[in-house]
Amino acid sequence: MKNPGTGLEGPARGMWSSRFMFILAAAGSAIGLGNIWKFPYMAGKYGGGAFVLMYLACIGVIGIPILVAEILIGRHTRKNPVGAFSVLSRKNRFWTAVGFLGVASGFVILSYYSVVGGWTVDYFTKSAAGSYLEADPGRINEIFSRMLANPWEQAVWHTVFMAATMGIVVFGVKEGLERWIEVLMPLLLVLLGILVVYGLVAGDAAGGLGYLFLPDWGKFVTNAAGEYTPRPMLEAMGQAFFTLSLGMGAMITYGSYLGDQENIPGSALMVAILDTAIALLASIAIFTIVFQYDLDPKAAGPGLVFQVLPLAFSQMPGGRFIGTAFFLLLSFAALTSAISLLEVVVAHFIDDRKWARRTATVIMGTVVWVLGLFSAFSYNLLENVTLLEDKEGQGMPILDSVDLIATNYMLPIGGLFIALFAGWFIKQQVRDRQLLEHSNSRTFYRVWLFVTRYFTPVAVAILILFMIDKHLGIAEWIVGGK
Ligand code: PHE
Repeated sequence: MKNPGTGLEGPARGMWSSRFMFILAAAGSAIGLGNIWKFPYMAGKYGGGAFVLMYLACIGVIGIPILVAEILIGRHTRKNPVGAFSVLSRKNRFWTAVGFLGVASGFVILSYYSVVGGWTVDYFTKSAAGSYLEADPGRINEIFSRMLANPWEQAVWHTVFMAATMGIVVFGVKEGLERWIEVLMPLLLVLLGILVVYGLVAGDAAGGLGYLFLPDWGKFVTNAAGEYTPRPMLEAMGQAFFTLSLGMGAMITYGSYLGDQENIPGSALMVAILDTAIALLASIAIFTIVFQYDLDPKAAGPGLVFQVLPLAFSQMPGGRFIGTAFFLLLSFAALTSAISLLEVVVAHFIDDRKWARRTATVIMGTVVWVLGLFSAFSYNLLENVTLLEDKEGQGMPILDSVDLIATNYMLPIGGLFIALFAGWFIKQQVRDRQLLEHSNSRTFYRVWLFVTRYFTPVAVAILILFMIDKHLGIAEWIVGGK
């Protein structure tokens, strides 16, 4: 059968039913634990406002351009990242390796993503059972620590989450992915709205909003000892990649199922706006409550959502119901992202190695599951194993370390090459056809091309160099004037 995009012979591939479904699916991939679990705790850890603004800047000048680039590459080639780079570069080894880096990132990210996804399912059951209702902050902390300390609980929920992800991916684009996303994403938005209103009314609105939106740049670039560190800037950029599912070809793969008539820039903007809105709404809901209870926004770390929102649920009328619904929807939001991670890996084995969808899903899903067990055990059996150090020089558990490597290095490096490729290496006609034919904004196109060529790669490269340079001290010399 002819491939609708390239006109080349190839097996039939799935397609989204409409542009709306694509936006929903891409937003489903983008919106997930990154927005509701990770963004708030990172904003807390790095001092609020300055981090939030840096993140917003990264979404604008790095995230949106790369999102457009990925969808364009995907729709033109109608392939997974490995296939896409290999076709477009005429089998150039280097570019094909960039595609492989994407598939590898998919493996790595999904392995720990599924563990945290498991926590959300676990909390769904805890909420339904009323476990944390009427508990004080100390007790709520303890419930979270106990969950982390229990290797069985970790392994079981990780397994449940991974099985659900595989169960959906097996059915492919229309039967598997679309059906779920359509119902779940709108519901999540409604529930988040309720929590924001609750936080603003019953929580400390001034404290929470002030922390989130008033920047303190001085603290942003220094650690507790007052020394310069580029880590927060790199984290803000990494978060922009992670939250929009960029730098590893998830959006190339989803773009490859998008119809030829659809407008790419418009869809990309929609996805970016939805994604950013959800991250900000979740943070508002969380920080108004953090300040209400005089909790330390910096100290919470990965436990933040699991410790703060239950406090609100145990106070508000109907909290048990709202809490249960919230963790259920968060599990689904995580699931729609996990699906896209697995889909990249599976699409590669289907397109390029001609595996059956079922075989690819089962085998690759199992490999990811095994890898994920290391993360599942990182706060119990393997708690003494630390891979990297955090901003303050403390050893970090496996899950946190793997997250840092994937988000701050693998995704930005992938994204850097995707931007360079889309900006410089693909043919002008391809770009024109993909971005101009079904969109009416030439201005957007011109700005996009300029930013993607000159700005995005330079910004990403500088941030990565800053990080590598941490040990060389040039940046410190510039920033600190020492
Ligand atoms: N964007 C997802 C989230 O914010 C995570 C993700 C990253 C999904 C990379 C796919 C690819 O939760």
